[in-house]
Amino acid sequence: MMGACKTVTLLTAVTAVVLAVYVYSSLPPDVTEPGKLVMFKAVFFTFSLIGSTYEKLGFGDRADLFRSIGVKPSFLVSDSNLEVRDSSFSGVQVRIYKPQVQKGGSKMTGLMFFHGGGWALSSTYAYDRLVGRIALGTGAVVVSVEYRLAPEQKFPVPFEDCLTATQHFLQHAAEFGVDPTRIGVAGDSSGGNLAAAVALRLEKDDKKKLPPLKLQALVYPALQAFDFQTPSYARGHSVYVNLPAKLMIGFWVKYLNNNMSLIDVFSNNGHTTALRKSRFASYVDRHFLDESVPRLTPEDISVDLPDDLKDILNPYFSPLMAEDADLSGLPDTYVSVCGTDVLRDDGIMYAKRLEMAGVQVRLARYPSGFHGVMSMDLALKHFEFELGRQMLQDLVTFVREKL
Ligand SMILES: *[C@@H]1O[C@H](CO)[C@@H](O)[C@H](O)[C@H]1NC(C)=O
Repeated sequence: MMGACKTVTLLTAVTAVVLAVYVYSSLPPDVTEPGKLVMFKAVFFTFSLIGSTYEKLGFGDRADLFRSIGVKPSFLVSDSNLEVRDSSFSGVQVRIYKPQVQKGGSKMTGLMFFHGGGWALSSTYAYDRLVGRIALGTGAVVVSVEYRLAPEQKFPVPFEDCLTATQHFLQHAAEFGVDPTRIGVAGDSSGGNLAAAVALRLEKDDKKKLPPLKLQALVYPALQAFDFQTPSYARGHSVYVNLPAKLMIGFWVKYLNNNMSLIDVFSNNGHTTALRKSRFASYVDRHFLDESVPRLTPEDISVDLPDDLKDILNPYFSPLMAEDADLSGLPDTYVSVCGTDVLRDDGIMYAKRLEMAGVQVRLARYPSGFHGVMSMDLALKHFEFELGRQMLQDLVTFVREKL
């Protein structure tokens, strides 16, 4: 094993350096801690490459290889002030994080958390440490949801899993010592999409049956699949970003119908050409990003998208497609966006529309941030970014204040 270990280390070092030089040359100049980002990307790519080669050659599982050379995942939370257990909420797998509080206190607050990963990757396991920190920071009982993933389970399954788990928590809050009127939803990236969709659905259909949500917290959320030429997507088509435009569009396609030949059509907005002057286009109006751009006046167009695309207009798939009347009842909202992120404009537009609909919104902008900066150290230890730590702190502060 020693020989293999040396070979892997050498291969990693050489490939990482070559990749680092390549990536560095196309990095935006204003990104935070560029050296660390480049090394993360290079090391991550290299491990993936070695892992998949190892598996393709039939040597076995990559996890065993990395374990045998001493590479351990840094995922897991361990803190004596935190009680963690797995459970099932109406058939949906969840992991519950309960911070220890002084006895005799009043009821606790609660937070549903939906992890990122393009609706297709990651797990509560991979998010264990981040969610543990959120629970410890906020003092809330946090429920992290193991929703089923695309492309095996396309929309609406991942959304419905999140909804079911949230409804269950609202109904059974007392069993966890939680006040049902002090529960929020949160998520990052595709998890931010799921949190926004769950909040919309509960507000619209469950208002009378369940206590209303107290807040929604959306960290660089993905909120629309209508316009893939927003300024932030346009930039992501050209400069290097942590989440390239094509990769993000691919995640949307997997979540929608897994017809990967749509990626090129979507990249050029070919799928929504017929709706360019419809009210749907006015929901993602450039005016929301730059008020010097005149506001779009929608025409009374009714074009049906083909069946395999029609969910693009469904607000539970893309929350920016919600009508103003449905936005207006949403709870206090936190949206964070990063400068170097194709999803930046999704977040800004949603914050703007919510504000115009009368919702209390805090939009936190991190111009030098990039997609995923808050959770980089989950995949590889030693890759915590100062800005990511700040984003997490700001999120925790909002939740503490509003819950
Ligand atoms: C996938 O999308 C392409 C491009 O729009 C379309 O021509 C094709 O029929 C689709 N395939 C399936 C299986 O739906």
